[in-house]
Amino acid sequence: MSEKKVVTYPGAEADVHWDGRLCIHIGECGRANNELFIGGRQPWCQPDLVGPNEVAEVVRRCPTGALTYERKDGTSHEVADAENVVSVMYNGPLYVRGDLDVDGAAEDMPGVRLRTALCRCGQSKNKPFCDNSHEEVGFKDYGAVGDKGEGFDAPGGTLKVGRAPNGPLLLSGNFTIVAASGRKAWTGKKAALCRCGHSQNKPFCDGAHKAAGFQAD
Ligand code: SF4
Ligand code: FES
Repeated sequence: MSEKKVVTYPGAEADVHWDGRLCIHIGECGRANNELFIGGRQPWCQPDLVGPNEVAEVVRRCPTGALTYERKDGTSHEVADAENVVSVMYNGPLYVRGDLDVDGAAEDMPGVRLRTALCRCGQSKNKPFCDNSHEEVGFKDYGAVGDKGEGFDAPGGTLKVGRAPNGPLLLSGNFTIVAASGRKAWTGKKAALCRCGHSQNKPFCDGAHKAAGFQAD
């Protein structure tokens, strides 16, 4: 686990928390067209420059769970998206959003109960989370999805994300997989997703982790 820590940016109506253990610098926060996050400014994040609704809206853009917020009026915390969705990124991780229970998440990582970026190249030093190692190792997968899944009765409920030792991510719950093309490709309740980087049927595991000698908790 990295030594990076959680930083709190206090505001009169809402605090913002940034977890350096999870941020992979995608920039959904800094690109937002308002004054909440400005790169290079001290402090970078200033919640009082926007309203608390805007804080909530921008924080929810963060795909990794690095950003979370707390409103001071106590009325609304972030609630999980109504549907659990796994998005396969072009040459990158799996972005997962919904009501999540991720095996391996620390107790003090509330963001990953709602949004997370999971390693699928096999090289992250912060597994099960992505740390951008896919860039260094030149991981290639364009995020096509072949199978359709068996569907589910109704969306929602908790999505459990477990890990087979030295093997795939084991997902169970109602969820959809969206291909990198943006196509809603798969719906179902159970899937083993490759996290070693070697499957020929990505994003699904095809057993290649064994021959590859993949080692992970
Ligand atoms: S949106 Fe989240 S992961 Fe992306 S740069 Fe901001 S804090 Fe980091
Ligand atoms: S985890 Fe990659 S093939 Fe099984």
